[in-house]
Amino acid sequence: MAEQILILDFGSQYTQLIARRVRELNVYCEIHPFNNPPELTDDIKGVILSGSPCSVRQEDAPDVDLENYSGKVPVLGVCYGAQLMAQKNGGNVLPSNIREYGRAKLSKVDQHNDLMKEISIDSQVWMSHADTIAELPDAYELIASTASVRVAAFKKKGEDTYGIQFHPEVTHSLEGKTILRNFVVHICGCAQDWTPDIFVETTVAGLKAQLGDDKVVMGLSGGVDSSVAATLIHHAIGKNLHCIFVDNGLLRKNEFEDVLHSYKDMGLNVKGVDAREQFYEALKGLTDPEDKRKAIGRVFIEVFDAEAHKIQNVKWLGQGTIYPDVIESVSVKGPSATIKSHHNVGGLPDFMKLKVVEPLNTLFKDEVRLVGKTLEIHQNILGRHPFPGPGLGIRILGDITPEKVHILQEVDHIFINGLKKAGLYDDVWQAGAILLPIQSVGVMGDERTYERVVSLRAVTSVDGMTADWCHLPYEFLADVSNEIINTVKGVNRVVYDISSKPPATIEWE
Ligand code: XMP
Repeated sequence: MAEQILILDFGSQYTQLIARRVRELNVYCEIHPFNNPPELTDDIKGVILSGSPCSVRQEDAPDVDLENYSGKVPVLGVCYGAQLMAQKNGGNVLPSNIREYGRAKLSKVDQHNDLMKEISIDSQVWMSHADTIAELPDAYELIASTASVRVAAFKKKGEDTYGIQFHPEVTHSLEGKTILRNFVVHICGCAQDWTPDIFVETTVAGLKAQLGDDKVVMGLSGGVDSSVAATLIHHAIGKNLHCIFVDNGLLRKNEFEDVLHSYKDMGLNVKGVDAREQFYEALKGLTDPEDKRKAIGRVFIEVFDAEAHKIQNVKWLGQGTIYPDVIESVSVKGPSATIKSHHNVGGLPDFMKLKVVEPLNTLFKDEVRLVGKTLEIHQNILGRHPFPGPGLGIRILGDITPEKVHILQEVDHIFINGLKKAGLYDDVWQAGAILLPIQSVGVMGDERTYERVVSLRAVTSVDGMTADWCHLPYEFLADVSNEIINTVKGVNRVVYDISSKPPATIEWE
């Protein structure tokens, strides 16, 4: 493995952001829980201690043996990490009696210090802490202050051990990236050579060594992650990768054919399986969202398993798991780490007893896209909005019938195509249509109608955890609404969802 930065996580909401920023500098890094750190090896060029929702003064405060790192490699403590460092070395951390939250400006900066090089005297930083370092340990020197926080940044004399009480990883710390660059590049000496090209090269070589002549089976969803993961494995083992793409009858209009075509174009050894009837049969009469999800998950496993068994001597199961799934799986609370069942793979069958290969499990979503670009995966797959595993099954409120699926496919197609034609598709994080379980009165010609209502939903988001509704142009919405009502039989009313998440969610079910 190439050189890396180790990030010890004390549970801060910003820990992933530290990793993102370091990787934006083309330096590989990994997040590990503070209570289960890896051994310090030659690859680890520096350690960053994250923030935490805890206080260093509380009885069971998260702790780490700093002696393992300090003086051996450069260490940077951020917020809680800095307070822990100060307290353990004889400093004093007290509850803060002034507000230390939000934007602040540095007032003193030691620009000769390696960490603070090129940082302006009045640089804006982001504070977020309830405790504050009242006194530094003797062996430490101050390298930055704000008007209200004297110990904004410090260094241990004669050692590359640093602490900062603000958060360089958030964008409100305007020169935060420079501080992280100073640490990672100038202090730790990382070469900034971790790029998508290098990732592809080393991953493919690694997969070749790991898989040899073994066969791998993998379910594809048409989404970015599984497509990029499959392409990497394909580069390594070619036809020994057997992909399965299931039509669950809940995909978008023409999606099965289009995506299958793209996969074949990419040279993937892929089998399309039409299992629509099996899914519709299992969903008959189900109205509860979780019951529907479970039924869809169960039938997927049955279909996938039956197909996988047709391939002789399969040893591995390929998965498109990405890094956030991995780090969210590992709780920092204790060694009894809880493992989250992965979103899209919904508990694949244990009885298949396959070893798992997950070539993307160290990458964030945007890094997956960059790798996809390097692999020249078509933009119609890479640029795709997220689409839930249960598909239209959770966008048809109430029970599911093939007729309802057909109506929703037509509506969704008009909306999504409209976004593409208007050049709005890439500005939207996710969009789709929802078929409501109600009918409303309308009038067409001289006739009174009593037909279905659909809702359109389009959101902006970074990661789906929070989202805002898109302020799409009225003209655009008017055109889409007209086209839907005029061409989709059975729909006489279109509404637009203007709820943000939280308190609403992106999907309606
Ligand atoms: P919510 O509705 O929770 O959605 O705001 C957040 C993101 O997750 C997707 N989603 C799912 N994806 N299986 C999936 O694979 C599911 O059951 C599921 N439910 C929601 C949703 O489309 C959005 O991108």
